Amino acid sequence: MEHRQKFIAALLAKMTLVEKVGQLNLYNGTWEFTGPVPKDDDSQLKFEHIRQGLVGGMLNVLTVAATREAQKLAVEDSRLGIPLIFGYDVIHGYKTMAPIPLAQSASWDLEVARKCAALAALEASASGIHWTFAPMIDITRDARWGRVMEGPGEDPYLGSAMAKAWVEGFQGSDLGAVNTIAACAKHFAAYGFVEAGRDYNTVDMGSSTLHNIVLPPFKAAAEAGVATFMNGFNELNGVPVTGNRFLQRQLLKELWNWSGFVVSDWASIGEMVTHGFTADLKHAAEKAIGAGCDMDMESKAYLRHLQQLVEEGIVDQKYIDNAVQRILQVKYDLGLFDDPYRYCNQQREKSSILTDTNLALARDAARKSIVLLKNEQHILPLSKLGVSIGVIGCLAQDKDIPLGSWRAQAEANSAKSLLEGMKSLVEPDSIRFAEGYKLTRGDRSFLFELDIIENDETGFDDAVAVAQDSDVVVLAMGEDCWQTGEGRSQVDVGLKGSQQELLKQLLKVNQNIVVVMMSGRALDIAEVAHQVPALLQVWHLGSEAGNAIADVIFGDYNPSGKLPVSFPRHGGQLPIYYNHKNTGRPTTNPHDDGMVFWSHYTDCENDPLYPFGFGLSYSKFEYGESRLSANRLISGGSIKFTATIKNLGPYDGHEVVQLYIRDIVASETRPVKELKAFKKVFLAAGEEEVVSFDIDEEMLSYYLSDGSLVCEPGAFTIMVGGSSAQTQGQELIYEL
Ligand code: BGC
Repeated sequence: MEHRQKFIAALLAKMTLVEKVGQLNLYNGTWEFTGPVPKDDDSQLKFEHIRQGLVGGMLNVLTVAATREAQKLAVEDSRLGIPLIFGYDVIHGYKTMAPIPLAQSASWDLEVARKCAALAALEASASGIHWTFAPMIDITRDARWGRVMEGPGEDPYLGSAMAKAWVEGFQGSDLGAVNTIAACAKHFAAYGFVEAGRDYNTVDMGSSTLHNIVLPPFKAAAEAGVATFMNGFNELNGVPVTGNRFLQRQLLKELWNWSGFVVSDWASIGEMVTHGFTADLKHAAEKAIGAGCDMDMESKAYLRHLQQLVEEGIVDQKYIDNAVQRILQVKYDLGLFDDPYRYCNQQREKSSILTDTNLALARDAARKSIVLLKNEQHILPLSKLGVSIGVIGCLAQDKDIPLGSWRAQAEANSAKSLLEGMKSLVEPDSIRFAEGYKLTRGDRSFLFELDIIENDETGFDDAVAVAQDSDVVVLAMGEDCWQTGEGRSQVDVGLKGSQQELLKQLLKVNQNIVVVMMSGRALDIAEVAHQVPALLQVWHLGSEAGNAIADVIFGDYNPSGKLPVSFPRHGGQLPIYYNHKNTGRPTTNPHDDGMVFWSHYTDCENDPLYPFGFGLSYSKFEYGESRLSANRLISGGSIKFTATIKNLGPYDGHEVVQLYIRDIVASETRPVKELKAFKKVFLAAGEEEVVSFDIDEEMLSYYLSDGSLVCEPGAFTIMVGGSSAQTQGQELIYEL
């Protein structure tokens, strides 16, 4: 540490103001874009700028060959030879795709999250990448927002646990190791609360929600030592987060004492002009650097204006020095000053990407991310022998959609389809396929709007014929991966195209229908859920999707996932989430006399179709009575809360035991339930286990609107269960 400080101080002393500003400039490589391309984009100029020491890092420059070439310009041709840092959106894999982050979160398995991030780091680092723009840890309650798929879901506790696991996975215990990369906690903050779920929209939020719901995962990431943060596109209560001094300088850097660097989102410094927050790009640069945004991604605001702003005395030079120091520290920790080409090993690039081991890990993660939502009369698992199966739906044979919408370098159409996965586990002749419906057409890509096919019934007859001749139908439904992700918000989170119509036709000839639902968000699937006996939520599961789903369908894996988001009964309920407030007229207390004066919808039930934390198993888990070791907790102490969980069989399996609390009376009202701990336990059929949790002040604390953490004396309910909607609890009194 001491060597690092000395080394960086010596380097800083040699740098001119222009070179310092250069370190704060992050350029896009010209061959891949993940945002609107600037009109004046010019690759020759960028190369020249690298030589002049005007570039600190690049994004979207990939492969050993390309990163080596760009690095050479910086190291050999610039005056001080400071290496570049290469960043890329390695969100859930580089070439081997793990499940989308929302699906990983559905595993409630921190080891899964850690391993998926470590796998992404292994492959990306082998291809010259130093830094990922992940994890995205924006809590969100609105499935209309397309970026739900990229994050951990609706809950701050689960979100914090996942944030920590992802950071640990990407960065390992040593950022200097060649198979780890720097992580980036994004988007700081509150991007997941864009109004009406429309991407890039305004965020207007009370500070209780900010402190208790939005910030905890970021704090967890900072505490886990995440190397970088990214701000975002949204404004928060009138101030664009990119220019938000409270968030970046005061909270993150001062109060949390975090020592990494903050990068802007793509052109978000320049967009402060469009927000109506700054007069021009120069003013935007002034606001952003003052607020604590250290690196400028693709606005060129710092490059063009920071030198002059310092010379004019408008921006204090200490802000520049501090930002440079933070960036150099991360480069140092990555080992780039020891050897700027240490991630440029062609041999490693060839041997460590897309290996059988990597695919096996992706398959294991994928099956653990599947959530069984319904299974009447134990229709699942299907027997591998003696059953004729009709597999229906274009999504069943699709090899591209499971890769997800932040797929980095995954090769198009490289995922295992559901059909392939199922055929590999049974006699292929026992399966017949019909496309049934078509979902989308044309070029599908990260950049452009999707063309969805409505009302196409040309495949219905074939599908009905297959259903008629089969013992059981496996119907793949859901959404294209390009219906989710950045810039892809939707007002209607229902099923598009003719899917629902097809289901109606199939039900006329065969009721044994297992629906496999592929999506990047909580879709409105109420109608489907009511009509079919079995429903599996499989998200977009990555390269090994089909194999993993087949493992679950045929019982090679007993499903253990739980929902990280509430599934609505109707899109009009959005935003919907389990940790809501009680209100003065609770949704659970209808008027006996039929009067309307309570918080409810008159045309829909109030609760979600499937609540947060819900997920079935092929076994049944029974919760015995819970116990507290004492019913009073004195400040500074700790007590035990235990519950007996029994696997009633007939399969061995995992259960996620969830602990919730309710603070009955508080200075600022608290939610009806808050997740505070969970344990994923494995129980053989018939086995029972006493699961215990420590209850202490930390668990009972919350943030007041002024940001202070308090634990207030009084009554709490401590609850345990297998879902947020099925809990049993004990009263506890907390005393000072
Ligand atoms: C996204 C970021 C991403 C960046 C770079 C932006 O449009 O909001 O999450 O890291 O592009 O690709």
